[in-house]
Formats: sequence, structure tokens, C-alpha cells
Amino acid sequence: MQKTQDYILDYTRLAAQRQYTGLVREHLARTHETPPLALVHSFGCQQNAADGEKLRGMLAEMGYGFTDALEEADFIIYNTCAVRENAEKRVFGTVGALKQYKRQKPGLLIALVGCMTQQQSVADRLKRSYPHVDIVAGADAWASLPERIYQALCQGKRSIKTEGEEPDTIVEGLPTRRAGWPKAWVTVMYGCNNFCSYCIVPYVRGRERSRRPEDILREVEGLVGEGYKDITLLGQNVNSYAGGITFAQLLKEIDAIPGEFRIRFMTSHPKDCTRELLDTMAACRKVSRHLHLPVQSGSDVILERMNRKYTVERYKELIAYAREKMPDLSLTSDIIVGFPGETREDFRQTLDLVQEVGYTALYTFLYSRRGGTKAENFPDPVPPEEKSRWFQELLEVQGRIGEGYMQRQVGSTLRVLVEGPGKGEGKLTSRSDQNIIVEFTGDAGLAGQFAEVEIVSARNWALEGRLIP
Ligand code: 5AD
Ligand code: SF4
Repeated sequence: MQKTQDYILDYTRLAAQRQYTGLVREHLARTHETPPLALVHSFGCQQNAADGEKLRGMLAEMGYGFTDALEEADFIIYNTCAVRENAEKRVFGTVGALKQYKRQKPGLLIALVGCMTQQQSVADRLKRSYPHVDIVAGADAWASLPERIYQALCQGKRSIKTEGEEPDTIVEGLPTRRAGWPKAWVTVMYGCNNFCSYCIVPYVRGRERSRRPEDILREVEGLVGEGYKDITLLGQNVNSYAGGITFAQLLKEIDAIPGEFRIRFMTSHPKDCTRELLDTMAACRKVSRHLHLPVQSGSDVILERMNRKYTVERYKELIAYAREKMPDLSLTSDIIVGFPGETREDFRQTLDLVQEVGYTALYTFLYSRRGGTKAENFPDPVPPEEKSRWFQELLEVQGRIGEGYMQRQVGSTLRVLVEGPGKGEGKLTSRSDQNIIVEFTGDAGLAGQFAEVEIVSARNWALEGRLIP
């Protein structure tokens, strides 16, 4: 349980870090005629993307400009992901290739932060075998990053995290450079206590800790005031938000903020998804009609071994209740294929569930063994080729279901938020309340506005519409 809030730090009051930020800024102003450029790349989930915006905010305070071109960068920061092994391999490969860049450009700074480098074994490996990497910090590096950058940039010293150096905290008041207008992310809680047996997140993101409701409300009010229209509340498990009020209560308070905007949230764990939350969703006008409720498997045996703490039956009851309250609800889910010990019969039950629920879209993953998790040592007899076949089968089944869902939208009228120009002359891209991409012809000035669109045709991943004047 999250009892006290002594884990919350205020960035604007971290005197030493403010000082380092100032020293870096002075150093850069002295040594550069034009602002040096930083490349910030985030791998993985939306939480990481949101953290990337804060990294940019901190760097902007130090005087950095930004680029997406590797050749132009004076500072490269990779914000890493550890959820699957492939993501880690890719980062090691990418960072390895930076060695020659650094030779050509000796002043280049290279930093790795995030979930992957939170693992001390990874930080140690980078220290030992990747000497061109200057800074290695973890997923909660906020309160140490200015100092690390100062050391690397101004003193020419490597700054590599050591075990226990960066405790679980929440840092309020970080500057943020948002990139997604009219959409914005607002993290409401960090960490995870669930320890699903396949998942590395609780080990790298630490224990659950919630932001204060007043800080969240102030941030959302500010965003609405700045013209943001689509606010996604983020947390590894938003339903266990515990900032003194429940997540459902938090939703109600955000819904009551004046202005026309939309509220989304992710991710919800089925074990904590209460009827109170579903009732609240249904009652709140601004909360979008989309629920991402990862089921992971359609087999009770596998769910038990995944430590998910719900049954297929209970999951289906939740879905039925949600649909009764919100008939136009769009449901999406995560599914892992090839969990250790999963049999063809278990997998068949997953296919059955997917067919029965009728998801709008699925995020499907092949199981990836992660060191330190419970499932690491579970016997895993099914060969990878067989798992790949199952995976393909699931994609095909969902492909048909998704297509059917999209076709059924033809002829309906959807309320969409226009995000900006689409592909093609005069086209706009937008998203419906159900989080479906809708393209239509219209004036570019509509960006950031809500519109009513009649759906005229459907493709696999997007709907085509006609603006209703
Ligand atoms: N292997 C495969 N998929 C995983 N996920 C989490 N850990 C693993 C793993 N070890 C998936 C889950 C989760 C999503 C974010 O990533 O489906 O919901
Ligand atoms: Fe991982 Fe489970 Fe926590 Fe999600 S709820 S982050 S899958 S441990």
C-alpha cells in the first residue's frame, strides 16, 4: 500500500540539481555559438514516450535544441525498454554502432536511461564493454540527471549508476517539452506491485506510487488551458491509483474540469477494474469509449501461472458489464503467446476468448524470457517455430475480427478529434472516441477541433469519412 507521500520530490526545489542545470547552461553558452543539438529517442511504451518529453524539457532548460538526425546530434539519449529481450538486443546493437560516430565526433555525449539500464547488470555491462557511453542512469534518473550531465560534459567524467543510487521517487515540477498536440500524456502513478510472473516491470520501475490528485488536476487544467484536447492518463496499472482518492474518483474530478476535451487512460488490470470504475466511465461525458484491458491468456491454468489473479469467467463478466453500460465501447487487449508450459489447448482457449469478446484491436507478443522473473525457470517445452505458428494464427483470427468491426462502422456518424494533416492532398487525420483513426477531407484549420464525421468506407487500420458540416 502507498501510505505516505514522502516519495514525492519537487524538481524546482532540488537546489543542487538546479545549480548543475545552470552550470551546464553556462558551459554550453560559452562553448557554442548556436545551441547544440540533442537527440532523444524513446523505445517501448507510452510511459517511456511521456518520460522522453520530460527529458527534452530538462535538456531545453540546459540550452539544448533538438534533432532527429544522428549526424547532427551533440548529445544522444536513448530512453530504453526492458519488457522483451529483443528490445534490449536492439539497444545494445544501436549503441555499439555509435562507437565510430564518437571517434569522428569526440565531443559527442551518449547517455542511456530507462528500464533497461535500471537493471544493474546492464549498467555494469555498459560500463565495462561500451566505454564510449558517458552516462548510464535508471528509470528514475530525474533527480540525478543534471549532475550526471554536468560531470560528463564539463568534467569529462563517465557517470554510471550504481546499485540503489536512484530510489523510487516521483519528481513533480519537471519541465516538459510535449510533441503530440492536441494530445498529451499525464502520468498519474509510477511502478507496479503485481509481479506477473513473466514481467520485468516491477523490478525496473519499482513499487507503486501515486501522484497527488491536486498535482494531476493542476497539470490537466494547465493543458486544457493551453488547448490540449486529448488527455491520456498513464500508469502501469492505473486502477490501483492510490493518491488518497480512487482512480474512479480521480476520473470524475478530471471530467469536471471545464472545457471541451477527451480523457483516456491506460493500462487497466482486470483484477482491479471495478464496477465503480466502469460506472464512472459510463457517467463521465469526457471519458472516451475505449477500454484497454489486457487479458494475456484465455486459459485459467495459464492465468494462474502468470499470477494474474482473475479467471476467464470473471474477465468475461467485467466485459459484459462494461458493454451493458457502454454499448459503443471499443475494447483492446494484450496477449502473450507461448508462455512457458502453454499447450495447444490453452492457446485454443485464447482464440475462443478473442473470438467471443470481439476486440477492436490486439497487441500480441511472443513470450520473452526475462532474467529475474518467476517464469524465468518455468519449463518451456514448446519449440519456437510452433509458438510462431500460433502467433500467426492469432493474428489471422484477430485480423478478421478487426476487419468486421471496421466494416460495421460504415454508415455510422462518429465524433472525432482532428489531429492534423493526413496522407494525401487536403486530407485530415483524426481519432474517434473509440480510438479509431478516421481520415477525411477538410480544412487544415480544423486541427485540434472536434468534428462529426459520417463513415463512408473502411480499411484495415483506418476509416474513411465525410465531414458533416
Ligand atoms: N514477454 C512477452 N510479452 C510481455 N509483456 C510483458 N512482459 C512480457 C514478456 N516477458 C507484454 C504484456 C504486457 C505488455 C505491455 O507487454 O502483454 O501487457
Ligand atoms: Fe507487468 Fe503485470 Fe505490472 Fe503490467 S501489471 S506492468 S504486466 S507486472
